[in-house]
Amino acid sequence: MGGFRNLELLPLQKSRTRLMKPINSLWEHRITYVCIGMIIAFGMVSMNSILSPSVMMAQTGEPVQSSDVTTGSPVNDEVSMVSFREDSAEVFRPAYQAKLGGGALGIGLSRRPLVVPSPKKRVLVTGGAGFVGSHLVDRLLERGDEVIVVDNFFTGRKENIAHNLQNPRFELIRHDVVEPILLEVDQIYHLACPASPVFYKHNPIKTIKTNVVGTLNMLGLAKRVKARFLLTSTSEVYGDPLQHPQKEEYWGNVNPIGVRSCYDEGKRTAETLAMDYSRGAGVEVRIARIFNTYGPRMSIDDGRVVSNFVAQALRKEPMTVYGDGLQTRSFQYVSDLVEGLMRLMEGEHIGPVNLGNPGEFTMLELSEVVKSVVDKDARIVFKENTADDPHKRKPDITKAKQLLGWEPKIPLREGLPRMVEDFRMRLGVEKPIDNSADAEHV
Ligand SMILES: NC(=O)c1ccc[n+]([C@@H]2O[C@H](COP(=O)([O-])OP(=O)(O)OC[C@H]3O[C@@H](n4cnc5c(N)ncnc54)[C@H](O)[C@@H]3O)[C@@H](O)[C@H]2O)c1
Repeated sequence: MGGFRNLELLPLQKSRTRLMKPINSLWEHRITYVCIGMIIAFGMVSMNSILSPSVMMAQTGEPVQSSDVTTGSPVNDEVSMVSFREDSAEVFRPAYQAKLGGGALGIGLSRRPLVVPSPKKRVLVTGGAGFVGSHLVDRLLERGDEVIVVDNFFTGRKENIAHNLQNPRFELIRHDVVEPILLEVDQIYHLACPASPVFYKHNPIKTIKTNVVGTLNMLGLAKRVKARFLLTSTSEVYGDPLQHPQKEEYWGNVNPIGVRSCYDEGKRTAETLAMDYSRGAGVEVRIARIFNTYGPRMSIDDGRVVSNFVAQALRKEPMTVYGDGLQTRSFQYVSDLVEGLMRLMEGEHIGPVNLGNPGEFTMLELSEVVKSVVDKDARIVFKENTADDPHKRKPDITKAKQLLGWEPKIPLREGLPRMVEDFRMRLGVEKPIDNSADAEHV
């Protein structure tokens, strides 16, 4: 039997031995494939870390960058890491962060968020080629932010932002906010709208469209990309006010069908839209009610009283005073306004905040200040007042003081000479030779 069994088993053993060879080589191949797979996976993870240092920081559990909101400067000393990340030009935005989130990579490794919070922001400024917008852009770039300007150049000028065109953190897009646009940004300062009566009355339908449709588009963008949104509203929402000075709680006295309504009611609707997007869609909105502002880069012939008086005095024309000249306005210097706008954006308050200088001047007093700065012999002519011109305007800035720690610093007599210098250059008017020092020695 034994021999029989042996005889029976012999071929089987042979065939087993024959079978073992391919099985062994299959295992060898499998091990090789697994090793290659691990090498590739390791290689991919290493590459990812090299290309994105932020990932490396997240994976190694190093402290992440955070910022001081008031200065925008980094508060720990991982500066080199952050600047390397920014130089690599791939700055992911919060909306992308939300979309990418965590999740699993195909190779079975869990993925950490790709972003370390950056102290620098990507900021959209609509109307950034205008008077206020261009000064705001300068400050944001100084702070280290990336700035995108969207402007249709209706009242804005390329000259206002030309000095920033070579800055790699600055972008300019010619675009009308009445049309939608998609941009990945962290904050939106929405300024686009002609601000002077001459320009906003020029095409009132376009003005109200800019205020309503343009604001809707920008709020829609803010909602989509989870950006914080600041609306530059105006003291015009108080109309011809029955309360003096004007507090934010005052609802105003506005003519809804007058020639200025495209602007006044347009801004009131823009405020309504902002609050509705805050309540209904959770958009972080800020509303600045801006009072008369002046400074370099204002449009020379825009009919606003300060630019009018200065340009007329420089051209040796009489200064035009409308009505009896006893109506009052308050004038804030543009750098004060920009500081207030940035504090408002970084703060936590949602409702409207007045930003203006409470110092009150009649038009006649203003003309005297202009005379003292530009030309003491300048003359005045009186003309009939325009429709719906408010009699009084003076902000109550208690809220801005309390909430933002803000108040204007530059008085009219200090700010006006800076604006006059700018106008003098743009109008090509020579500075009069000052002989007073010589006269003292005579
Ligand atoms: N300067 C003030 O005294 C004052 C007072 C109250 C409110 N504001 C508000 O501040 C903002 C800026 O005012 P400003 O004095 O710089 O005015 P501005 O006219 O100098 O600037 C407005 C900018 O918006 C642009 N713009 C207008 N319509 C646009 C559109 N449809 N699409 C894209 N861009 C458009 C213009 O080309 C311009 O560059 C405005 O919203 C204005 O209502 C200003």
